[in-house]
Amino acid sequence: MPVPAEYVRSLHAYELNVLLALERLMRRYRWVPLEMLRSATNLSESELTYRLGRLIDMDMVRYEKVPYEGYALVFNGYDTLALHTLTRRGTVQALGSRIGVGKESEVYEAMGLGVVVLKFHRVGQRSFQAARIKRGYMPETRHWPWIFASASSAKMEYDALKRLHPAVSVPLPIDRNRHVVVMSFIPGVNLTRAVLEEPQEVLEEILQNVAGAYRLGVVHADLSEFNVMVDEAQCWLIDWPQWIETTHPNAREILRRDVENVLRYFRRKYGIEYPLDEAVARVIG
Ligand SMILES: Nc1ncnc2c1ncn2[C@@H]1O[C@H](COP(=O)(O)OP(=O)(O)O)[C@@H](O)[C@H]1O
Ligand SMILES: [Mg+2]
Repeated sequence: MPVPAEYVRSLHAYELNVLLALERLMRRYRWVPLEMLRSATNLSESELTYRLGRLIDMDMVRYEKVPYEGYALVFNGYDTLALHTLTRRGTVQALGSRIGVGKESEVYEAMGLGVVVLKFHRVGQRSFQAARIKRGYMPETRHWPWIFASASSAKMEYDALKRLHPAVSVPLPIDRNRHVVVMSFIPGVNLTRAVLEEPQEVLEEILQNVAGAYRLGVVHADLSEFNVMVDEAQCWLIDWPQWIETTHPNAREILRRDVENVLRYFRRKYGIEYPLDEAVARVIG
């Protein structure tokens, strides 16, 4: 679990305030000095250090001495804030088990109105440089903490799902808070794990959905067999945070790469020869 559910439930009001103050102050400080936290929370120094100690023990906050003394949220702390909000809104009642993990996310099953999926975006420090080059939404500031990068990534994905559902077969977007997207649970498996009986039909269906997204102004930009899920009757396109507008100067080229990735997979695994130009023309229409 990103953070044990009982930690979220048993969090003291002061501890919640400290997490919220850290979140706000991290816009300005990589490591938030104690004095800033004191004035932001109005807690006495002894109360504040006690609460910070508990948050550090729960692995929600980190303390660093260099380059100067300060405190910062770590993923668990940010997860807690998002889960707290989503629980209060009634979107989520209980967190279940982890069903997926990628370079920049962790995906969990949860109970909301039925089974839902929580995708925790984790645009971490290591992938930060690459992400900034790949994606348009990273401002050119030196201090752009992972919490805000992760929240932007979640917002991008949520916006795409809102725009595409239901015209395109994607998960139903339910809610978003901070770096967490709540969406419907897809009862399928990744394309890489399926042995298709009618691969040609599935390939056509994928291209139809890529075309549907294109008509709505969206290019996936990270499409491959890993971001397609299937069951016996249907396929879904998932994982949208890096999508671009069809008006983007490189949209055609990126669309071509998306389509090529899919065609390559069907060629290697099922021996289907589908000319790239023909497939791209189908998508662009
Ligand atoms: N809505 C969903 N329903 C069921 N499983 C999902 C859903 N979204 C993601 N997953 C699972 O989690 C994995 C990672 O999700 P994905 O959105 O591709 O993120 P990443 O950026 O980490 O690749 C997927 O390959 C899939 O197995
Ligand atoms: Mg993926």
